[in-house]
Amino acid sequence: MARINDHFLKLQAGYLFPEIGRRVAAYASEHPDQAGDIIRCGIGDVTEPLPQVAIEAMHKAVDDQAARETFHGYGPEQGYDWLREQIAKVSYAERGVQVEADEIYVSDGAKCDTGNILDIFGHDNVVAVPDPVYPVYVDTNVMNGNTGEARADGSYEGLLYLACTPENGFVPEPPGQHADLVYLCFPNNPTGAVASREQLERWVAYAKENEAILLYDGAYEAFITEPGIPSSIFAIPGARECAIEFRSFSKQGGFTGTRCGYIVIPKELHAKDAKGNDIPVSRLWSRRHTTKFNGASYIVQRGAAALFSPEGQAQTRALIEHYLGNAAILSEACRKAGLKVWGGKNAPYVWVQTPGGMGSWEFFDKMLHEAHVVITPGAGFGAHGEGFFRISAFNSRENALEVAHRIEKLLS
Ligand code: MLT
Repeated sequence: MARINDHFLKLQAGYLFPEIGRRVAAYASEHPDQAGDIIRCGIGDVTEPLPQVAIEAMHKAVDDQAARETFHGYGPEQGYDWLREQIAKVSYAERGVQVEADEIYVSDGAKCDTGNILDIFGHDNVVAVPDPVYPVYVDTNVMNGNTGEARADGSYEGLLYLACTPENGFVPEPPGQHADLVYLCFPNNPTGAVASREQLERWVAYAKENEAILLYDGAYEAFITEPGIPSSIFAIPGARECAIEFRSFSKQGGFTGTRCGYIVIPKELHAKDAKGNDIPVSRLWSRRHTTKFNGASYIVQRGAAALFSPEGQAQTRALIEHYLGNAAILSEACRKAGLKVWGGKNAPYVWVQTPGGMGSWEFFDKMLHEAHVVITPGAGFGAHGEGFFRISAFNSRENALEVAHRIEKLLS
């Protein structure tokens, strides 16, 4: 009989967001009269229409597919040059960061990239993950056999956890022990924390000293409002030799349902093979990408490229300001209700301590049952997330105001 990958059996319950969806659906079916009143601030899924420039570019791209002269079949697996060049110019060069177009690999999203990257690394690496953390990093390491069994608190044997707490402002310092691969995400999902230049410099120094690779998730970089906060790990000298960056159009351009992201692997980045030889990481990723992926859709890439025009940049900025406006409203409501609040300033996520030491799933139920608001329990992001919850600011202004009102009413 065929054998399964037994590592999957180590995974705890379902993936976090489907699990939340299941609980919400169960509540809604038991209380059909209240189902229509539920407001979802759980998964960070955008709600507002795509920027007009992207809509127009995609309409035109559909028309391109209607005529032999402009038709596009398989594209380059790494993405069309016209998109990669725009990314290199607008997202990096114009901000003083060196990234070449041929170091950019366009994909169907950062979630896939952060999981797929493990294909090119061995199983004996020491993997460090922040806690709490975007669950994809941990779960994909479990699937890949890079961990031991789950412990009672949901953490896994074999991973090096970097505690993110109010004391360190939810930005972990490099550990006193060796790691080979380190996941970092700033602005952070779920806590909304940002890392300063000095903090990132310490991480780059650690990576170089340990010959480690930083897997830097910058999916939320467009939400940075504070001057001086680096928008890319490659803004830090030396990072080109020790980091991979993941980026996405999902939150920045409203592409969660349209799907487009990219990964940056600098030419200087090397890792060792079993014989101790230095191998360029981009060589392996390129091999993997061209073997397992046929490129993001032409139509979608046209939509993404349109976001880089001056008009596209203005429309994207307006979208981000809308969500950051929601984040400010939600943060303020939680503060008024007497709760301790983090994030929400350079990120679309508001991270909040539960009232009265309540467990985070317990508070999830209270919010769902009594306020008809879906939040994400902090424990779903790791053991150190217990006692906290996350509110996503991805919503209409009307819903954000209503959620603020319900929070204040519930907790006053
Ligand atoms: C989240 O809610 O954490 C995100 O939507 C997950 C994702 O981007 O995949």
